[in-house]
Amino acid sequence: MKVLISETQIQDRVASLGSEVSATYKALLSDEEPLLVIPVLSGSFVFAADLVRELSVPSEIDFIQLKSYEGSSSSGKVEIVKDIRADLKGRNCLIVEDIVDTGLTASFLLESLGDRKPKSLKLCSFLHKPSREEKKVPIDFLGFSIEDHFVVGYGLDFNGRWRHLKEVVIYEGGQK
Ligand code: IMP
Repeated sequence: MKVLISETQIQDRVASLGSEVSATYKALLSDEEPLLVIPVLSGSFVFAADLVRELSVPSEIDFIQLKSYEGSSSSGKVEIVKDIRADLKGRNCLIVEDIVDTGLTASFLLESLGDRKPKSLKLCSFLHKPSREEKKVPIDFLGFSIEDHFVVGYGLDFNGRWRHLKEVVIYEGGQK
């Protein structure tokens, strides 16, 4: 499989993202009011684990897991199968996604978590495929913008496999 983003490129970019996120929130957080980092399972678990270790601001992690209906992805029908435990009200929250593809998942999340009255709600995505966009979502922090390839590795899978790869590779047989 062809390497699209190498391990070193990922490490460098994630370190920079950590600095960007920290600089943005620096004045807003304290040990009493840490950043609530919300990684979206399962794809973002590797990225989130690296990202939080690059933060120089206080943070807490609370995972969310979604199910999107196969075959109707363009309808954007998404359901929460594992919710976060924390109360978002009045908190500074950061959603961490593996990839924004059509944008339907991220837009669902911004809307449904936004309804819970957080003090702020931002989106950090490791990857973005702008050419596939169906719904425009504001990505506040972005790792890499990529062409329309199906990719695996660094947490991203095809049928549950390849998440463990240290780099992002193009999976030729992947679904679009
Ligand atoms: P969206 O709702 O179309 O933006 O898609 C979001 C989800 O689709 C992501 O969180 C991924 O789980 C999955 N996805 C989209 N593109 C890829 C890819 O290239 N590789 C692996 N998973 C992908």
